[in-house]
Amino acid sequence: MKNTQTYIQENKDKFLNELVDLLKIPSVSADLAFKNDVRKTAEEIAKFMKEAGADKIEICETAGHPIVYSEKMIDPSLPTILVYGHYDVQPADPIELWTSPAFEPVIKKTEIHPEGAIFARGACDDKGQMFMHLKAFEAMMKADELPCNVKFMIEGEEEIGSENLGTFCKANHERLAADIILVSDTGMINNETPSITTGLRGLSYLEVEVTGPNRDLHSGLYGGCVANPINVLAKMIGSMHDENNHITIPGFYDKVQELTDAERAEMAKAPFSLDAYKKALDLTDIHGETGYSTIERGSIRPTLDVNGIWGGYIGEGAKTVIPSKAYAKISMRLVPNQVPNEITELFTNYFNSIAPEGVKVKVTPHHGGDAAVTPIDSIGYAAASKACETTFGKKAIPVRSGGSIPIVSMFEKELGLKTVLLGFGLDSDAIHSPNEHFGLFNYYKGIETIPYFYKYFTEMSQN
Ligand code: BES
Ligand code: MN
Ligand code: MN
Repeated sequence: MKNTQTYIQENKDKFLNELVDLLKIPSVSADLAFKNDVRKTAEEIAKFMKEAGADKIEICETAGHPIVYSEKMIDPSLPTILVYGHYDVQPADPIELWTSPAFEPVIKKTEIHPEGAIFARGACDDKGQMFMHLKAFEAMMKADELPCNVKFMIEGEEEIGSENLGTFCKANHERLAADIILVSDTGMINNETPSITTGLRGLSYLEVEVTGPNRDLHSGLYGGCVANPINVLAKMIGSMHDENNHITIPGFYDKVQELTDAERAEMAKAPFSLDAYKKALDLTDIHGETGYSTIERGSIRPTLDVNGIWGGYIGEGAKTVIPSKAYAKISMRLVPNQVPNEITELFTNYFNSIAPEGVKVKVTPHHGGDAAVTPIDSIGYAAASKACETTFGKKAIPVRSGGSIPIVSMFEKELGLKTVLLGFGLDSDAIHSPNEHFGLFNYYKGIETIPYFYKYFTEMSQN
């Protein structure tokens, strides 16, 4: 792939400038105020596909934001790689915590990224990582070294639960026929340690509402006499973990797949420094389920976390009030075998059962998704591993991630395809947070590595 790699080296500035332009469009899928920007991003991606030499480019309408599809079929006897990515991004809030505006990308040097990182919402998740695939494809096309067929399916609703992607896959079985799905929407351990993600957690996300009196009350006149929904909610949430930080919902762990001691020992080999971990987060100590390491707590164990909680008076100064209502958004990260709908039901039953007299509670489910594990004894994994070895000069380590990409299990069910998760982001890249960034090293390394995946996957498929 000599010419491909030369093309990449000669076009680094172009690749960066193009990504900067793409990051300027605020493709926030959650907020319909950005609907036109989401579409504009889809159109830009279609343009880039065209310039790179893809065929059958189509902006596919859905009930929500569009999916951008294209392909390059060079020979039906060769394998086909289906690349999935997402061009939508999380909201930029809280915007006041950004050191430069979220949609005005700038390159800044950091301790972890001494060669510079691009700061913008979506830089890493997932515009930057998705764009690596378009640029790698462009390089292979321009160098006339594309070794197999490729299809691109780039969606605009991943951050809101990929609600319409399932329908699209169902309706397009033939068009999406492939041998493997390749996704860069995950991370790696650090810039010296290439890694391939072999597992993702599932998710059950819901919202709860606790209602006390029919109106906000004077906290002097009524304080002590009626249930305060915020006090009640805090206590209910507090009771959902025991002293060992186990989740107390009956049945919650029933289907959890326990790892063998050998598998846990293998996991413990991944480089990890607790001191560096604490330092990076300004923490004096870590916290979690008794009996499990931090790596395990963040990947193979299920969780329950409040993502937001509100109610009452939160404006300036003090207002003496007992609120009528309290709310919280709660996520439960799930592991293989746990069924999101079942967990949502267990939560709902339990939440109702622990509500004290004097309040009403309501649980509203949001999106969810299955956990996924991807095989390491597969051609896909072997090709990704060899590709990393080629560009990093080091063997890749398999890693189970704590994040969720619910469509990975959907792809397997709907299309019968396995996914390779070849991500280049770092946990410290602040995805979903203020000051999200993506290292230039990581961006270019991704573009350089992807063509080798194509090459090795093609070679290995033919043996
Ligand atoms: N790319 C992330 C998931 C991710 C990040 C997996 C890093 C592994 C490592 C994805 O865009 C995401 O944020 N997923 C959501 C779930 C989705 C249903 C909104 C998540 O994990 O919270
Ligand atoms: Mn993502
Ligand atoms: Mn995300």
